[in-house]
Amino acid sequence: MVIKIFTGTSAFLFFLLALLLPAARLKADDGHGLWLRNNKTNPVIISCSDKSATAMLAIEELKDGWMGKAGAKMLLIVKFDQSIKGDGYILKPQSIQAATPVGLLYGAFDYLRRQKVGEDLHVTSNPSYQRRILNHWDNLNGTIERGYAGSSIFWRNEKQAPTVTEADRKLWREYARANASVGINGAVLNNVNASPIILSDDYLNKVKEVADVLRPYGMRVYLSVNFASPMVLGKLATADPLAPGVINWWKDKANEIYKAIPDFGGFLVKANSEGQPGPQDYKRTHVDGANMLADVLQPHGGIVMWRAFVYSASDKDRAKQAYEEFMPFDGRFRDNVIIQVKNGPIDFQPREPFSPLFGAMKKTSVMPEFQITKEYLGENIHLVYLGTLWEEALKSDTYQQGKGSTVARCTDGSLYPQQYTAIAGVANIGLDANWCGSNFDQANWYAYGRLAWDNQLTATQIADEWVKLTFSPDQTTAGDSKWQNGFLKPVTAMMMKSREAMVNYEMPLGLHHIFAADRHYGPGPWYAPKKVRVDWTPPYYHKAGADGIGFDRTSKGTAAVNQYQQTVADEFDNLKTCPEKYLLWFHHLPWTYQVASGRTLWDEICYRYQDGLQSVKEFQKTWDSLRPFVDEQRFEEVQSKLQRQYHDAQVYKDGCLLYFQTFSKMPFPPGCEKPIYTLDYLESIDPFTMEKFPASNGGQ
Ligand code: GCU
Repeated sequence: MVIKIFTGTSAFLFFLLALLLPAARLKADDGHGLWLRNNKTNPVIISCSDKSATAMLAIEELKDGWMGKAGAKMLLIVKFDQSIKGDGYILKPQSIQAATPVGLLYGAFDYLRRQKVGEDLHVTSNPSYQRRILNHWDNLNGTIERGYAGSSIFWRNEKQAPTVTEADRKLWREYARANASVGINGAVLNNVNASPIILSDDYLNKVKEVADVLRPYGMRVYLSVNFASPMVLGKLATADPLAPGVINWWKDKANEIYKAIPDFGGFLVKANSEGQPGPQDYKRTHVDGANMLADVLQPHGGIVMWRAFVYSASDKDRAKQAYEEFMPFDGRFRDNVIIQVKNGPIDFQPREPFSPLFGAMKKTSVMPEFQITKEYLGENIHLVYLGTLWEEALKSDTYQQGKGSTVARCTDGSLYPQQYTAIAGVANIGLDANWCGSNFDQANWYAYGRLAWDNQLTATQIADEWVKLTFSPDQTTAGDSKWQNGFLKPVTAMMMKSREAMVNYEMPLGLHHIFAADRHYGPGPWYAPKKVRVDWTPPYYHKAGADGIGFDRTSKGTAAVNQYQQTVADEFDNLKTCPEKYLLWFHHLPWTYQVASGRTLWDEICYRYQDGLQSVKEFQKTWDSLRPFVDEQRFEEVQSKLQRQYHDAQVYKDGCLLYFQTFSKMPFPPGCEKPIYTLDYLESIDPFTMEKFPASNGGQ
């Protein structure tokens, strides 16, 4: 039987390749080693006058991972130079210079990466953002909101005071090392939907333990705080930010934190959003709330990251609300407040235009928030590389200071004077052996770190690096043309196409938020139970009807376009210039509207869904052909997830097209395969489990 499978030329090639590849490659690999794999290394002689723990780590990394000549000499220098910014560094073939020990560590990791992937060893590299932060949405009972990689690495369901074990410390060290290797220098340790308990003595003791482990790797810890903490924890009658008792409570709390953790980073706050408490509960404003906390942290050097993710059920257009609520406050926040803005105006959709707050707030520091965990992009199942999404977001031109005012430049301090610059990514890390719930999701952690360090990098370059570091069996293979053509090229091509494929089979042409219920997995364009907030139901977003589909945000609709700078507003407003990828985000159009391809809108929608599904089929074929290059464990993990992805893309395509067809009343065009499922069936099941939906599902 087995022999039968391997017949013909491809079988011969398969065996030939298997013979040529080192046996070690086929050993099971659980992915725990991430992109930090040291294979055949050589001895190196290092001199360094700095004796800090961080410099020692830099030396250790170089010794463990050296792939240059055996016996080569390296000099590590901590000395300021005009060309170095913050924790940046200068690499030369025989030296690494930085202004800080952490800069040396970053330089060491970059040096080793360059050795492995074969890049130039002459470079000066500086961070785009001062604070490059992971936001862990980890709850204190160990669960993770929107987490798909197991339980929290920081918290567990503890009956009494939280404890710390040696195994915890080891894991946190590995975590910190991985972050340092890509330049991430901060972590918010708990969910934005924050429990006040995090500020209790027992939990702060544990936070200190984490901070102590992370510190040598240049990482600071931050905490999400619940605005009502003075009431819940301090038993005060109010949490009014202007009440002296409340201010004193926060002052004491800050003193207590900084006594234990002198380099504590600051607070992240989700206030008056999705039911969280905030200053508006006391008829105060975001400014009152944020500035009170900022004043409390200021003497210690801490910052407040105040989120702009706010919206209320009553508004006609959720996309407009953050701008409307925050713009009037521009210039009124303290210097150590940074407004944390999600990349798009709604909520981490597969595709959104950039949030109009970027560049518009000219007298306030603004930081981008990305989502690394794939809440809306197939969890840990779908292979979706997010480098392309973030590159698109960072390179979006706001025109706020003329052409070239990209989101990147509006937030990294190059266009506006900001005392602090920062960027946040919602982490996809958990206790799973491979950290992220899937091997390919590691690429998103990696890509976030690389872009936070250098927001001008391209997604292609990052994918290329990551594949080489993660899958190349030894240092010689990364530069080997057989491996490059046979594995590197097809895999990076698949990654680069993956997000667009998902946009196509989930919600093409600017459609958004058409997910099934609260889980946000699978299609639910029909989902609209009476008891659920209307802005948590898909029909609010797609507005499909007999007359057409799409959300009219033009100047004649909700006028959300007018929140953008004039050039951009005009571009989005005008059907002739609106990029097709945002068409139905900004326009409501008849099914028969003719799009750029010459097709009707209905036909184009059908083709896009079909194309997305087809792409996943191609990913499967590509991956199946790569078995000889990958160890069995990782190969099979990716293979089985792709199988599930194909199945679920079909569910998406069938569900959305059959539902939209009830309005368009038009036939599927030639080339668009007939659905496999029926609408009745898909409406009756939970697309995640493929079992009957529980009747009481709510939430957004
Ligand atoms: C989304 C997500 C929530 C999260 C929220 C936030 O709405 O579904 O789980 O709490 O974003 O960013 O605060």
